Amino acid sequence: MNTLSESDLEVLVDASRIAARIRELGAEISGDYLGRTPHLVGVLKGAWVFMADLIRQLSLEVTVDFLGIESYASGTTSSGEVKITKDLDVSIVGRDVLVVEDILDTGQTYHYLQGVLSAHQPKSLKLVTLLDKPGRRAVPVKPDYVGFQIPDVFVVGYGLDYNQQFRRLPDVRCLRHIACV
Ligand code: IMP
Ligand code: MG
Repeated sequence: MNTLSESDLEVLVDASRIAARIRELGAEISGDYLGRTPHLVGVLKGAWVFMADLIRQLSLEVTVDFLGIESYASGTTSSGEVKITKDLDVSIVGRDVLVVEDILDTGQTYHYLQGVLSAHQPKSLKLVTLLDKPGRRAVPVKPDYVGFQIPDVFVVGYGLDYNQQFRRLPDVRCLRHIACV
């Protein structure tokens, strides 16, 4: 497996900007779902760090569940094929479902999830993603809440990985040797 070291990385969004933006997102989402109990569905594995910070900025009761997704990718390229590796534990029928993603790239994963989750008849279905690369979209999906729009660079840290490396980093970093702006 291809391994890199931290010196191959450059900070793109630092931890304090992430924290500040998540406070804003928390306030916005809390306002939009006022009086309701949204059901947050985190997409494993990348989204759990973001989700853990986001729920602590919500002034609402929430319930949580997780979906495991594998998108047949290796390194920095995705094939577009998606497989569910962990199904939901709890029914989402009639629930206000808010999917929590780490990053929206080509849109293929969320497009697939929209189909699968809609079939279970939630009352509403929305997406919050920490990062969005709008320039990479291959399928026309739009997130409802976005932490940061970023250029077409491969990023790691804050839950995101490169061949399982770097999830523990507290900020979002790009791979210097591939593309950093
Ligand atoms: P999609 O292309 O929108 O289907 O994104 C699929 C998945 O690829 C995301 O949920 C991430 O897990 C992964 N991914 C996309 N871009 C990056 C990146 O820059 N760094 C790490 N993972 C990424
Ligand atoms: Mg993901």
